[in-house]
Amino acid sequence: MLSDADVLSLLMGRRPGYSLPQAFYTDGDIFQSDMKNIWHSEWIFAAPSAELPKSGNYITLQIGAYSVIIVRGADGAIRAFHNSCRHRGSRICSATKGSAPKLVCPYHQWTYELDGKLLFAREMGPDFKPDEHGLKPVHCTNLSGMVFICLADVAPDTAELQTQAARYFGPHDLAGLKVAHSSTIIEKANWKLVMENNRECYHCSGSHPSLCRTFPDDPYLVGGDDAATSNVGKAHVERCEKAGLPAKFMISPSEQWRFVRIPFLGNAVSYTMDGTAAVSRRVGSVPFDNAGSCLFFHFPNTWNHFLSDQVLTFRMLPVGPMETEVTTTWLVHKDAEEGVDYDLERLTEVWIHTNDEDRRIVEENQIGINSPAYEPGPYSATQESGVIQFIDWYARALEKRLIRRFRVAAE
Ligand code: FES
Ligand SMILES: [Fe+2]
Repeated sequence: MLSDADVLSLLMGRRPGYSLPQAFYTDGDIFQSDMKNIWHSEWIFAAPSAELPKSGNYITLQIGAYSVIIVRGADGAIRAFHNSCRHRGSRICSATKGSAPKLVCPYHQWTYELDGKLLFAREMGPDFKPDEHGLKPVHCTNLSGMVFICLADVAPDTAELQTQAARYFGPHDLAGLKVAHSSTIIEKANWKLVMENNRECYHCSGSHPSLCRTFPDDPYLVGGDDAATSNVGKAHVERCEKAGLPAKFMISPSEQWRFVRIPFLGNAVSYTMDGTAAVSRRVGSVPFDNAGSCLFFHFPNTWNHFLSDQVLTFRMLPVGPMETEVTTTWLVHKDAEEGVDYDLERLTEVWIHTNDEDRRIVEENQIGINSPAYEPGPYSATQESGVIQFIDWYARALEKRLIRRFRVAAE
C-alpha cells in the first residue's frame, strides 16, 4: 500500500524528460492518488453544451467514485449535481443520457426540480424540511459551449480561460451547433498514456494513414517560440488573425491549457479522406473554409479541434489504473441536414479510424510497460515536447496537492 509520502517520493525520484516510473502507469494506489489530487481537484470537460439542447436534457458521468448529473434547467442554465439522492443515497439517474421534466429518484420517488431543489417527498412528517434536502451541487461552468465540472470544494479560477475560450471558440458558435455523432471507446491503458499519445505526432506517420492525408505531423508547425515555428504555420496564423480569427499560440501560465490554429496539409479544409469539407454549411462566423483547425487542450482530460465545417470534442475519463474511456463528439451547424448537407460516414470515418489506431497503440504501450523489464525511456525534445509538457504539468499538479495535504495534516 503506497502512502502519499511514497507517491511523492516516487514522483521526486522521476527523471525529467523521461517517461514515468512503472508504478505511475500500473499501480492502484497511484491511480487513487491521481483521482483525488487531479481528477477530483481540477476542472474536467463533461460535454459540449449542444449535447443538452433543451430543458430537462441530462447526461451522467462517473469520475472515480463520484457519479454526477449535468442537466439543463427550465431557465436554460446548465447545472451539475451529485447523482446521489438526499433520502437514502440511491443513484437517481442510471442512464448516461436522457431527458426528464423532473429528476425522480427510482427508489422512493423523491422528486427534484432541474435546479436541484427537492419538490416532493412522500410522508416525511411535519418537521421535514425539503429546503435542506436539495441535490448537492457540483461546480459547473459553460466555457463558450464546452461544459466543465469540478468536484473540488473550491474550484480553480477560470477567468482567463473563459476570456480566451470566448475569443478562440467564439467564431465557431458552439451554441449554434448540434451533435451529429458521438462515439465512446474503452482503451485498456492508464489515462496518462492516452494523453501522452495525444500530445505527440511522432507516431502519426507510422499509424494514422487516414489522418495523415490532411493533418500535418510537422512538430515545427506550432509553438510558443516564434523563431522555431515554420513559415507555413506562421503564414496561416497571420492570415486567420487578419480575418479576425484568433489563431496565435497561447498557453496558460501553468501550461494546463493551450489554443493554437494550425493549417491542414495542402488545400485540405477538413478531416476527410480527400480533404474537402465534410459539411456544406460552415459553422458560426468562420470567414473562410481554409481556416485549418483550432486546437484546444485542457489537462487532464480533453483535446479538441475547431474547424470551419465541424467541431470535434474529445473527453477522456479514467475507469481504472489500466482502463480509460474516450468519447468523441462531432458537432455540425444546427441546420445542417444529414444526407443533404453531410454524409455521416464521410464526416466521421477519419477520426473513427484514428481513434481505433490510437487505442491499439496505447494498449500495446501499456502491455510493454507492465513488463518487469520496463524502464523509463527518453522523450524526443523535438517530437515529444508536448508529452514532456504534459508530464511536467502532471508532476507539478500532483506534487503541489500532495504537499498541501502534508501541510494540512501537520496543522
Ligand atoms: S433513496 Fe431516493 S427516494 Fe429513497
Ligand atoms: Fe494518434
